[in-house]
Amino acid sequence: MNLPSHPFPGMHRRQFLKGLGVAALAGLRPVWSASVPDKLPPLRILYYTDVHSRPDLAAPEALAKAAAAMKPIPADIVLCGGDVINTGLRAPASDCEPLFDIYDEFLKALGRPVEHALGNHDLAGISDPPNPAANPRELAMRRLGIVEPYRTVDVGDYRVMILDSVEVIPGPQIYRGYISPVQKAWIADVLARTPREQPIILLTHIPFRSTFLQAKESPMAALKNNLVVENANEVLDLFRDHRLPVVLQGHLHSDEHIDWAGRHFIQGGAICAGWWKGPNLQTDFGFGLLEIADNTIRWSYTPYGWTAKG
Ligand SMILES: [Fe+2]
Repeated sequence: MNLPSHPFPGMHRRQFLKGLGVAALAGLRPVWSASVPDKLPPLRILYYTDVHSRPDLAAPEALAKAAAAMKPIPADIVLCGGDVINTGLRAPASDCEPLFDIYDEFLKALGRPVEHALGNHDLAGISDPPNPAANPRELAMRRLGIVEPYRTVDVGDYRVMILDSVEVIPGPQIYRGYISPVQKAWIADVLARTPREQPIILLTHIPFRSTFLQAKESPMAALKNNLVVENANEVLDLFRDHRLPVVLQGHLHSDEHIDWAGRHFIQGGAICAGWWKGPNLQTDFGFGLLEIADNTIRWSYTPYGWTAKG
């Protein structure tokens, strides 16, 4: 089952934008790097997002290939931006369990611990009869070993803050990108206990910043709240006295980078590219590596060599 709630299935164009600079592409392995004003401690994050595991379209075979490509890459932490399964939302948990089984095989092949943000497709059993879930997050949290949907993970000298950016809402849209008041209070509390000089990386499924719709439709297109986090500016304002060099994002299956006054918003492409049917906005089936060292932030998006089947 592939529910039509994901914003725009089937797009074909690469978007690789750098808000204050020039897009940098290097053959099959696009890379950009940017200097930062203050020295940052070293960090390597292997980052992938939007897996959309499913039994058909040879997706299990592709996932084995992706895991093999990612496994040997050294990193301090592996992060996933969510949407690990392809159905979710109104689908009952019983339909989603087999897709988590497929994703489990990927994790076993990867052989490394992964910290996950929840995506809209990871929620299950939303509202509809006959078996509405009391907690649409319960299944994914159990299957992925997530204790809290928003949490911090300290790695090296960094604090990674993993957000829960999907809010279930009534009506056909099902969800919006939104950071709840309770979560905002939690962020403020974490920041009050975080030294101002300690760099923070944010992980959010639904983006805080994107030019995705302008690339797909028109430079004048207005983003909707199922594409970006509606109250992202309020949330970012909480970080005004803190070092937040990078926000890792998922959801839109595009390889995009916005450098907004030195704060880097990275849209991490997608393992499934265009929902397993081919590239999405020219973003290939791939994963990313974020490397921070001294005064440089470097991002590379690496296709793992998959071609759509079926
Ligand atoms: Fe997705």
